[in-house]
Amino acid sequence: MNTELIIDVSCLEHTYPGGVRVDVCGVAFQVRRGQRVAILGPNGSGKSTLLKHVLGLLTPTKGQVRVFGEDPARHYDRIRGKIGTVLQNVDEQLIGPTVFDDIAFAPLNFGFSREETMQRVETILQTLDIAHLRDRLPHYLSGGERKKVALAGALVFDPELLILDEPLEGVDYASRLEISHFLHHLHHRTAMTIVSTTHDMEQVSLLADVVYLMRAGGRVELYGNVTDLFFQHDLRDFNIAPPVVVQLIQELARHGRNLPPTLDLHTLIQHLLERMPADG
Ligand SMILES: Nc1ncnc2c1ncn2[C@@H]1O[C@H](COP(=O)(O)OP(=O)(O)O)[C@@H](O)[C@H]1O
Ligand SMILES: [Mg+2]
Repeated sequence: MNTELIIDVSCLEHTYPGGVRVDVCGVAFQVRRGQRVAILGPNGSGKSTLLKHVLGLLTPTKGQVRVFGEDPARHYDRIRGKIGTVLQNVDEQLIGPTVFDDIAFAPLNFGFSREETMQRVETILQTLDIAHLRDRLPHYLSGGERKKVALAGALVFDPELLILDEPLEGVDYASRLEISHFLHHLHHRTAMTIVSTTHDMEQVSLLADVVYLMRAGGRVELYGNVTDLFFQHDLRDFNIAPPVVVQLIQELARHGRNLPPTLDLHTLIQHLLERMPADG
């Protein structure tokens, strides 16, 4: 793919005070315009550290980070209007006294008129189906509601790049489905570049087409199409349990029943129905 390189991270090393070192090296971490990318890896492998570098929240000890051609640690002001973010801990970013004020904060700050801001906030509240939360205090919302409000704040100014650190963490099953389907349709509609991290392997194919896999210590070890990655590698090596659909297809293959690889449950069921005679 030769589209514009939006994120380019090469051999990033970060040493936290206290000496914990995250060394994001190995496969270069690169994201091109329009891609949907997930970063997977066990707890503590450095996913959030990598994203914090992309967001200019940390300065590399070694290595280079470029986002829209800029060094985010030095010139984040030049690119902030292009990047919507949901941090792993959304409480760090929800600052408005009410949900409405919170979502209006960024566009007002970026110089949108009051009228245009109001209109945009209304639209995104409707789109995410959270209009009923508009006057609530962000602090007292449920986990899923807080993620949705943070997502609304990230999308309200139409960013070119969306960075989501664990958007499904601490969210109940119904909201996980809602958020992942919302993001799936958002990408379908807008081709927005989306980078996320997640531990939810059942939802990852709704969030991403390609995946980077990190090992403990930060090493980016594998990059590939999300379906290929699950079917061609044993991710238990990475402390990652494959989606149930993958486990089922692989187990059937061990019994000599070969089905085409898919991560989609409905496609799998279709393949099974085509091969199974109906009772009676
Ligand atoms: N502020 C910090 N101070 C010291 N160590 C940190 C800090 N943040 C993260 N770390 C350490 O850096 C490593 C990577 O953490 P993180 O990027 O949060 O991993 P992940 O997001 O993959 O779970 C872990 O060992 C973690 O304990
Ligand atoms: Mg993290």
